[in-house]
Parts: sequence; structure tokens; C-alpha cells
Amino acid sequence: MAEIFPEWVNDVPRYVVIAAGVSLVAGGLAVWYFFSPEYTDVGYKPRQPIPYSHELHAGELGIDCRYCHASVETSAAASLPPTQTCMNCHALVARDSPSVAALLRSADTGEPIRWIRVHKTPDYAYFNHSVHVRKGIGCASCHGDVTEMEEIELVEPLSMRWCLDCHRNPDPHFRPLDQITTPKWARVSDPATFAETFKRDHRIAPSTECSACHH
Ligand code: HEC
Ligand code: HEC
Ligand code: HEC
Ligand code: HEC
Ligand code: HEC
Repeated sequence: MAEIFPEWVNDVPRYVVIAAGVSLVAGGLAVWYFFSPEYTDVGYKPRQPIPYSHELHAGELGIDCRYCHASVETSAAASLPPTQTCMNCHALVARDSPSVAALLRSADTGEPIRWIRVHKTPDYAYFNHSVHVRKGIGCASCHGDVTEMEEIELVEPLSMRWCLDCHRNPDPHFRPLDQITTPKWARVSDPATFAETFKRDHRIAPSTECSACHH
């Protein structure tokens, strides 16, 4: 059969389909990005099964975050402490307090405490703690100062826009690596120069590619 059209035309439908698909995704994204309420969940502060206080433990008693959130520097999840971590002290401390009763029961029965999750990104968005804290982003940049919190509260929206705002301009957030968990860290005197040097030394360039966060 004689070729009426040049060869490349055979591929047109596929291009059209792909282009349409891409613009659908882009359109949907634009609608979502510009119209989604940015602070929907900020302020979320569920009542926990035990009135555990960060203000007391991480603040007054000065226990480092990593004592309880042990995997925060090495893996995606920060992790919550098992009952045994609390029992290192509460086997002796405040045993008679009614607020500690549920903790002692958990230690007796081996039944873990069902803490209510405060921060959660959807399954289709990938978040990893270690890539942040090992690159100089402190807990307080994303969680606020928990040593002022009797109960943990969501202080940032965890929206895509929030992630991207920092990926585009992380400079105000960098800290020396030994200050990652310091709740009230006094800023360096010249943050701009510090950020430049820090980014160069640690080869930091946060991604804004979709595939970095959507696998
Ligand atoms: C003695 C143990 C302990 C220490 C120290 C501690 N935490 Fe926690 N943390 C917990 C427990 C238990 C929970 C779960 C109950 C709750 O949300 O209050 C928790 C919850 C959290 C949450 C909320 C998790 C969620 O559900 O989204 C954040 C954020 C957090 N901690 C940050 C920190 C930071 C930052 C520090 C250090 C400044 C710190 N924690 C120190 C025990 C600890
Ligand atoms: C390093 C020691 C230490 C660790 C670890 C620790 N606590 Fe405490 N906790 C204390 C001290 C000290 C107090 C203050 C006791 C007092 O006021 O008599 C306290 C107080 C409390 C209280 C309040 C008691 C009251 O009567 O008001 C609760 C509830 C509590 N802790 C729960 C926990 C839980 C849950 C964990 C584990 C996630 C934990 N603690 C880990 C030392 C610790
Ligand atoms: C760049 C922002 C960011 C930084 C820095 C950060 N977090 Fe988180 N954190 C999050 C997000 C987002 C979630 C929800 C993650 C999810 O749903 O997978 C979270 C969840 C948590 C949780 C809930 C349990 C878990 O494993 O997911 C704890 C506890 C926590 N963070 C503690 C910390 C501590 C302690 C530090 C500092 C050593 C820290 N975070 C640093 C953003 C951050
Ligand atoms: C306060 C600043 C800040 C916030 C908020 C933040 N990030 Fe990041 N993110 C960084 C920095 C800095 C890096 C390290 C980049 C590097 O090593 O080149 C990073 C790295 C990453 C990486 C590894 C890929 C890469 O770019 O190197 C992923 C995935 C990631 N972030 C996802 C997220 C998600 C998802 C959120 C929101 C839930 C988020 N981040 C919020 C600053 C931030
Ligand atoms: C730095 C991390 C990051 C990057 C880069 C990123 N996203 Fe996201 N994206 C997220 C997070 C986190 C959410 C979930 C936000 C929420 O729960 O509100 C999300 C949500 C979405 C959603 C769901 C919207 C909805 O209706 O909830 C779409 C679609 C999306 N992203 C597309 C994209 C595309 C396309 C790109 C590339 C142009 C991209 N994302 C780049 C972190 C990222």
C-alpha cells in the first residue's frame, strides 16, 4: 500500500494521548496546588492515652529526642519509644501517680501503648527523616519547639507546598549537625554565609522533581 502520509504520523495518536495525559495531571495539580487550604490540619492535637509531656521530659528534664526517637538519624521513620524506654525511669519514678498507671499496666501485660499519630503524610508521598536531619535540618524546623508543648501539636501543614517551599529555599533552616535536636538553638550570626558553606560542604541540593517524593 502506498504511503500517503510520512512515517512519523503513525506515532501521532500516542503523542496526543501522552500530551493529553500530561496536561490532565498538570491541570489537576494546578487546581489542587492553588486551591487546597494550606493550614487545614494545623493545630491538630489529639488527646493521648497517657498524659506524656514533652514540656516536662524534653524540656525541664532535658532528655534528648534521640533517647526516645532512636531511629530518626538512620531511617525514614523517627519511631516512638517502646514502653521499656519509659520504664528505665518509671520502674522507680512516680509509680503511684494515676497518670502513670496505664504505663505500668502496659509494662505488666506487654500490650503496647496505642499512641495517636499526629503527623502523617499520605502513602503516595514519600518522607524520610534521616535525609533531612543528616543534612542539617533540625526537628524544630518541622515540628516547632516541642519543649513548649504539654501535648504534641501539628504546627506545619505537611502540604506539598510546604515541602516545596523549603526545597526551593532551605537556607534559613540549616544548623550544625550537632545542634539538630537542640530545642532552643541560637542562630548563627550570619545565616546566609553559614548556609552557603554548609550546602557546599555537604553537597546539598534538595530536589523538586516529582519522582523524589512520588515513587
Ligand atoms: C522520654 C521520651 C521522649 C523524648 C525525650 C522525646 N519524645 Fe517525642 N514522643 C514521645 C512519645 C511517647 C510520643 C507519642 C505521644 C505524643 O505524641 O505525645 C512522642 C511524640 C512525638 C511527636 C509526634 C509524633 C506523631 O505522632 O506525629 C513529635 C513530633 C516528637 N515526639 C518530637 C520530639 C522532639 C523534637 C523531641 C526532642 C526535642 C522529643 N520528641 C523528645 C517520647 C519522647
Ligand atoms: C529519664 C527518666 C524518664 C523517662 C525516660 C521517662 N520519664 Fe516520665 N517522668 C520522669 C520524671 C522525673 C517525672 C516527674 C515525676 C514527678 O513529678 O514526680 C516524670 C513524669 C511523668 C508523668 C507525669 C506523672 C505525674 O504524676 O504527673 C508521666 C505521665 C510520665 N512521666 C510518662 C512517661 C512516659 C510515657 C515515658 C516514656 C515515653 C516517660 N515518662 C519516660 C522521668 C522520666
Ligand atoms: C523536614 C521536616 C522534618 C524534620 C526535620 C523532622 N521531622 Fe519528624 N516528621 C515529619 C513528617 C512530615 C512526619 C510524618 C511522616 C510520615 O507520615 O511518614 C514526621 C513524623 C515524626 C514522628 C512520628 C513517628 C514517625 O516515625 O514518623 C516523630 C516521632 C517525629 N517526626 C520526630 C522527629 C524528631 C525527633 C526530629 C528531629 C531529630 C524530626 N522529627 C525531624 C517532618 C520532619
Ligand atoms: C525545612 C526544610 C525542608 C522541609 C520542610 C522539607 N524538606 Fe525535604 N529536604 C530538605 C533538605 C535540605 C534535603 C537534603 C537535600 C540534599 O541532600 O541534597 C531534603 C531532602 C529530601 C528528600 C531526598 C531527596 C533529595 O532531595 O535529596 C526527600 C524525598 C524529601 N526531602 C522529601 C520531603 C517531603 C515529602 C517533605 C514534606 C512532607 C519535605 N521533604 C520537607 C529540606 C526540607
Ligand atoms: C518535596 C516533595 C514533593 C515533591 C518534589 C512533589 N510532591 Fe506532590 N506531594 C507531596 C506531598 C507531601 C503531598 C501530600 C500533601 C497533602 O497531604 O496535602 C503531595 C501531593 C501531591 C498530589 C495529590 C494532590 C491531592 O489532591 O492531594 C499530586 C497530584 C502531586 N503531589 C503531584 C506532584 C507532581 C506532578 C510533582 C512534580 C511537579 C510533585 N507532586 C512533586 C510532596 C511532593
